[in-house]
Amino acid sequence: MSNVVVVGLQWGDEAKGKVVDFLSQDAEYVVRFNGGNNAGHTVVVGKDTYKFHAIPVGVLNPDAIALITDGVVLDLGVFAEELRGLRERGITADKIKVSGNVHIIMPWHKRLDALEEAYKKDGKVGTTGRGIGPCYADKASRIGLRIYDIIDPEALPVKLREVLRLKNDIITKVYGGEPFDYDEILEQYTGYGKALRPYVADTATMLFEATSDCRKILFEAAQGALLDIDQGTYPFVTSSHSISGGATLGTGVGPTAIDYVIGVAKAYTTRVGAGPMPTELFDDMGDVIRENGHEYGTTTGRPRRCGWFDAVCARYSCRINGCTSVAVCLLDVLNMPRIKICTKYEIDGRLTDVFPTKPELLAKARPVYEELEGWNCDVSGIRSFRELPEKCRAYVRRVEELMGCRICMVSVGPKRDQSIIIDRELLSVFDN
Ligand code: GDP
Ligand code: IMO
Ligand code: MG
Repeated sequence: MSNVVVVGLQWGDEAKGKVVDFLSQDAEYVVRFNGGNNAGHTVVVGKDTYKFHAIPVGVLNPDAIALITDGVVLDLGVFAEELRGLRERGITADKIKVSGNVHIIMPWHKRLDALEEAYKKDGKVGTTGRGIGPCYADKASRIGLRIYDIIDPEALPVKLREVLRLKNDIITKVYGGEPFDYDEILEQYTGYGKALRPYVADTATMLFEATSDCRKILFEAAQGALLDIDQGTYPFVTSSHSISGGATLGTGVGPTAIDYVIGVAKAYTTRVGAGPMPTELFDDMGDVIRENGHEYGTTTGRPRRCGWFDAVCARYSCRINGCTSVAVCLLDVLNMPRIKICTKYEIDGRLTDVFPTKPELLAKARPVYEELEGWNCDVSGIRSFRELPEKCRAYVRRVEELMGCRICMVSVGPKRDQSIIIDRELLSVFDN
């Protein structure tokens, strides 16, 4: 048996897409288990760039079966568009299956996402505006519409009428907005239902059979551990389980079926949206990292907040994910004379290396830095660890030591081949 979860260790955009693409060449199943099209995963293969939002990155391996499982929320318009875009580029979608339990992001979810954010004023989360929070809220309230409802022509009209009455009341009476038209939505979603039917499957049973047959399964997380609804920096989080445990909650696969957890971290830190970020840089250095790393969101185009590597946060993430190893990406971006790593926080005059999840405490955390000499040269053409400049290797080893977790690979550019394997054994997730 050899199954692996790839998970983000920071606040998303750690280059999970790139690492998943690298590993999925050998996978037999690729599985998206959480989040929705708030995700934006970029993969560069040769001259081609692909941006994934709802579909697993591993679909680029034509032999892999791609699954979208129970923990995901799906915007059917985005899904259809992404499928069409892939087909136009010669990527067949024959092997995609979607769980009937997946909740649908309905038009009112997107509207309510915007209305709730506007209502919160200074307390805004800075969401992606894709309707994620309201959709998961309805799932927890047990009034969500699932794929099973959309593909059932008898259930859809009844369930839609019921939930739309409530949603229109909230939109018009609480927010003073315009109501949605029942007939229009019914027609549109009946159409989606027909188109979806061939993709719907019992993905939990498929995965049970796959694990029983010792198939190679790659679980790809969206977002990052610090955006997890339970273990992240609440309330500045997303609404799903973005840590490795989400791979079991969101699929129906039991935890004992997971063999490896590979955490993905940037060589520095970024965050999009609101919420505390202890190592955020507000000076020129922040701009240098943003420009070197092209740190603008794949989904919303927003400039990302940038800062030094935060080892307190990465160590916490390795812990809550149970990482077996870490891939450190965008190492090439730190092409500068001096580099800092945050090793501890000072909170109310006390030093700590424990990551506080209470937002008020995290907001007070002042980073304590260790300064290292940088390698100050371009490493994007290097393909082996021993050829990296000594100062670069020293940085990687110091990050490893502070995280308390082995580093399996580093990435020195966006392309598939700009990857350096450090420890093949840690990465041999599909060899046995
Ligand atoms: P994800 O959401 O974790 O999949 O990450 P994103 O795709 O949102 O953001 C990562 C960005 O960094 C993408 O534009 C990638 O193409 C790019 N990228 C990935 N690895 C590297 C790397 O090692 N160096 C550089 N310079 N860019 C990288
Ligand atoms: P990938 O998979 C970075 C952030 C948003 C916001 C918060 C809540 O590409 O790493 P939501 O729309 O989910 O309700 O927004 O979470 N966020 C992400 N940040 N990468 C992502 O995904 C994100 N998905 C959500 O910016 O702060
Ligand atoms: Mg992203």
